[in-house]
Parts: sequence; structure tokens; C-alpha cells
Amino acid sequence: MSNKMTAFSGVQPTGNLHLGNYLGALKHFVSLQKKMECIYCIVDLHAITTFQKPEALKSNILETTAGFIASGLDHEKSIIFNQSSVSGHAELAWILNCVSRVGWLNRMTQFKDKAGSDKEKASVGLYIYPNLMAADILLYKATHVPVGADQKQHIELSRDIALKFNNDFNAKNFFPLPEPLIPKKISRIMSLRDGLKKMSKSEESDYSRINLKDEADEIVKKIKKAKTDSKPIPSDEKELMKRPEALNLLTIYSDLTNKSINDVLKDMAGKDFSHLKTNLSEMLVEKICPIGKEIKKMLGDSIFLKEILKKGREKANIRAEENLKKIRDIVGLI
Ligand code: AMP
Ligand code: TRP
Repeated sequence: MSNKMTAFSGVQPTGNLHLGNYLGALKHFVSLQKKMECIYCIVDLHAITTFQKPEALKSNILETTAGFIASGLDHEKSIIFNQSSVSGHAELAWILNCVSRVGWLNRMTQFKDKAGSDKEKASVGLYIYPNLMAADILLYKATHVPVGADQKQHIELSRDIALKFNNDFNAKNFFPLPEPLIPKKISRIMSLRDGLKKMSKSEESDYSRINLKDEADEIVKKIKKAKTDSKPIPSDEKELMKRPEALNLLTIYSDLTNKSINDVLKDMAGKDFSHLKTNLSEMLVEKICPIGKEIKKMLGDSIFLKEILKKGREKANIRAEENLKKIRDIVGLI
């Protein structure tokens, strides 16, 4: 087995990138570039597991690409492309559909959440989505997968699939078992309206999230309206853990300022939330607005964005075909 480290991750082009995507994923994608070879994918085949309007999907693919670059990804250094342009993802997904087990998929909590109460009506794609995700990772024999905490179960499934493939086909260590890289401090940013719900692209209220494209005045307004409780900021981390909205705002602030939660609490204990909100808005405007500006600028140059995807696809395809050749042979396909 080659011990070269390769990172792979994917983001769905299903709408506005938000602060959760940035702090939970993109920021870490950027820093990993210094440590290993990185492959970052706009996972359009995952997006269509729930219906997407075709024109919106096309523009969201370009917007997610712009979000990657504006957040600091280097398209010369890392491979950046959209999933459907490398057909090996779909081919390996089929092979892995035959390795993965129905019982394993039945345990996936994201399917249960997304399919809602009427599971009979969910697309088959939504159900087998984790197998496609395993294919994304294993197609490049990726060793590390930077993601937010919501994806942990899917990475564990990818490891199970890799191990079963290696065992079933007597191909010891053929697929490395991918390691999830989940940020410790900020694995899950919560909605600004409900501290128990994840900040998400699909949440109806735009007040629930900070989008990377938000203008400064929108950010200030959203933070002002963010839900809090009526007590002052606590001095003690244990008490903070029991107050989800306070915990969320303070965690975001501590991440943006690179200070520990304890240090932030030392500064802010006893003060009321308006104090935190003023400081938090300032930090967000400083860190997020330049990214938003850059995204908007790039959206005016779709040729540049398409060129990035084309170069990425060429590089990804070479890697994918090399591995697929071996995989077909191992499975017995001629
Ligand atoms: P998605 O937007 O669901 O395609 O997610 C893209 C990446 O962002 C994945 O690594 C997710 O785990 C991460 N992510 C999405 N929402 C959040 C959130 N609210 N907090 C932390 N990470 C998130
Ligand atoms: N399922 C991930 C999400 O919704 C996106 C994704 C698809 C992914 N393929 C991947 C993440 C491979 C990491 C590795 O966020």
C-alpha cells in the first residue's frame, strides 16, 4: 500500500454557502493544502438525490466553485472539479452498491432526517447516497476526509465498505481506511434561530444563517436578531453547555478570534448579549465580507470558473482511471 496522504472532501451545490460550511469545512480544506495532496469536489450527483431545478443547479455549481476559491483554495495546488464530470464516481458507486449492505444503510441517520416521515417517497438515490460518498473517497484512495460532524457516520460507513471490499476480494490494504478530520472546537455550527438545529442551506428562514455572500448590514441585522436567552453571559463553561444559543454564538466568536472558549468567557462573563453581538458582528464583517465580495466578483467571470473545473476534471480523471483499471481487474470485470 502506498502511504501517500491524500485528502478528499465534497460540498453539495445546493444553495448559498454559509458560515457553517466555512468554519466546519472550507477553512480546514484551506489549511490542509499545506500538509498533503488535496482533492475538493463539488458533488452535483449528491445534490440531485433531492430535486434541483436544472438552471439553478448549473449556477450553484459555479457559485460553489467561486466559494472554494474565495475561501482560499488554490486551484493550481489542489484538484477542484465537479463530481459528474468524472464518470468514475458513478461507476465505482455501482460496484460499491454491491459491496455495501442494506442493513448498513438502514442505520444512516441523515437518510432518516432527510427522507422525513414518508420514506417510501424518498428517491432511491437519497438512500444509497452514502455508497456514492464512499466511492468519491475511495476512487482516489484518499486517506483523510475533512468534514463537519454531521458526516462522521458516512465516513465510518466508507471505512466499512473499504474493509469489506479488501476482504471479499482478497486485496489486502487495497483501499486505505479513510480517517475523518472533524474540527474539535467547531464541528457543528447551529442555526441562529434555534441552538439545537444545525445551520443549513435548506432551512427556510434566511435569518437562521450567515451566508458567505451576505452584505455587512445583513450580517449585523442577523446577529442582532439571533436568539439568545435572558440571562447574562456565564463565567463557567459547564453552565454554557446547558445554554445552546449562547454556546453557539460564543463558539463562533471564539473560533473567529482564535481564542479559547474559556478566555472568551473570562472577557465576557456577566455582560449581556448585546456586548457579545456587537463584537461578533464586527468579527464576522471582517472575516466573511471579503470572501463574499470575491465570490460576487468571480460570478461575473463564468469562463474563469469553468476553466478551473475543466483543469481539475482532467487531473482527477487521470487519477480515477488509474485506480479504476485496478478495481475492475480485482472485481473480475474485463
Ligand atoms: P453540505 O453543505 O451539506 O454539502 O456540507 C459541506 C461541508 O460543510 C460538510 O463537510 C459539512 O459537514 C459541513 N457543514 C455543513 N453545515 C455545517 C454546520 N452547520 N456546521 C459545521 N459544518 C457544517
Ligand atoms: N455528503 C457530504 C455533505 O452533504 C458531501 C460529500 C459527498 C462528501 N461526497 C463526499 C464529503 C466525500 C466528504 C467526502 O456534506
